[in-house]
Amino acid sequence: MKTILSQVCTILFVSLLLSSCMETKESAKIMPGEIWLDTDGNFINAHGGGMLIYNNTYYWYGEMKSGETYTPECNKEWGGTRVDVTGVSCYSSKDLINWQYEGNVLPVVTDNPGHDLHTSKVVERPKVVYNAKTKKFVMWMHIDSMDYSKASSGVATSDSPTGPFTYIGSTRPNAGFWPLDVSEDDKKDGNLAEDFETGQMARDMTIFVDDDGKAYHFYSSENNVTQHIAELSDDYLSHTGKYKRLFIDRSMEAAAVFKREGKYYFMASGCTAWDPNPARLAVAENIWGPWEELDNPCVGENAELTFISQSTYVIPVQGGKDAFIFMADRWNKDDLKDSRYIWLPIEFGDKDSVSIKWHDEWDLDIFGE
Ligand code: GAL
Repeated sequence: MKTILSQVCTILFVSLLLSSCMETKESAKIMPGEIWLDTDGNFINAHGGGMLIYNNTYYWYGEMKSGETYTPECNKEWGGTRVDVTGVSCYSSKDLINWQYEGNVLPVVTDNPGHDLHTSKVVERPKVVYNAKTKKFVMWMHIDSMDYSKASSGVATSDSPTGPFTYIGSTRPNAGFWPLDVSEDDKKDGNLAEDFETGQMARDMTIFVDDDGKAYHFYSSENNVTQHIAELSDDYLSHTGKYKRLFIDRSMEAAAVFKREGKYYFMASGCTAWDPNPARLAVAENIWGPWEELDNPCVGENAELTFISQSTYVIPVQGGKDAFIFMADRWNKDDLKDSRYIWLPIEFGDKDSVSIKWHDEWDLDIFGE
């Protein structure tokens, strides 16, 4: 009896060991487009996401996409599917591969249909930055009405990277301010004059914090036709009134900004709702421009569709030289909760050349020592 028991124990032990090894092996790689599980074994639910690096830890924030995907009447004309809003998730990791769920850090409001965070609204592309002066974690996000006509930016703060975040409110940036370099003729343009009064339309967005601690808000404005860069106040909670129109009439969204060797890079998509299109790339010596547009950096099969995905962020990998990860969403517009993540290493060549190639699976060793 004793021998049988000890044999059973040995078999159990060996199979446990094997399965834990397999798990480690499985989770040691980034596999773009595959189901990505968190350390509890659940699907990572953090779409349109962004990354905060704080105390040697990566925090991944994103839109939670849960429940049924449906097309509301108001969005039927352009096929705009949605899920009801549930909140903003946060995951933490030391290695960018194994992610621990930290919770829903900005839960929705269910009892007030007028609230920006009500389930019927749009809460997209949350980005969190840390303000060293106020010691607050500041989250900016695209806030909209179900039909996307509100076109505003919301802000929330927390004392901890893992929340809870307290929602402050939403705004259309820079009401009462003209953009830098605006001509007298442009000021007479009906749309610009209207936006001067009401504030700037702001949909897809990102926040970039420069080495000197100054934060900038990039957002798709003027009905997604023109990108804006706007300076944030020292506490990162409001706009200073200094802003500029970039890539006029180039229709870009899903902005992601990073800095390498003193140069600023801007990545984005074109405007085709959930459907993929060719990635956009631009480079500048000064964040206010001039920005020079470069070719689509994606190469290989499906490059013209950004590998069937849309940019959301570029991660500067800690401790690596030239180690940047292009982070994108492969949206499943008919079942949004099954949207996947496309993470790929960015390669830098001569001069400003940037390329992104497909990898079925890869790990951080690709960046070298
Ligand atoms: C995309 C945008 C997404 C989401 C979607 C809705 O263009 O990048 O964040 O708003 O449209 O259809």
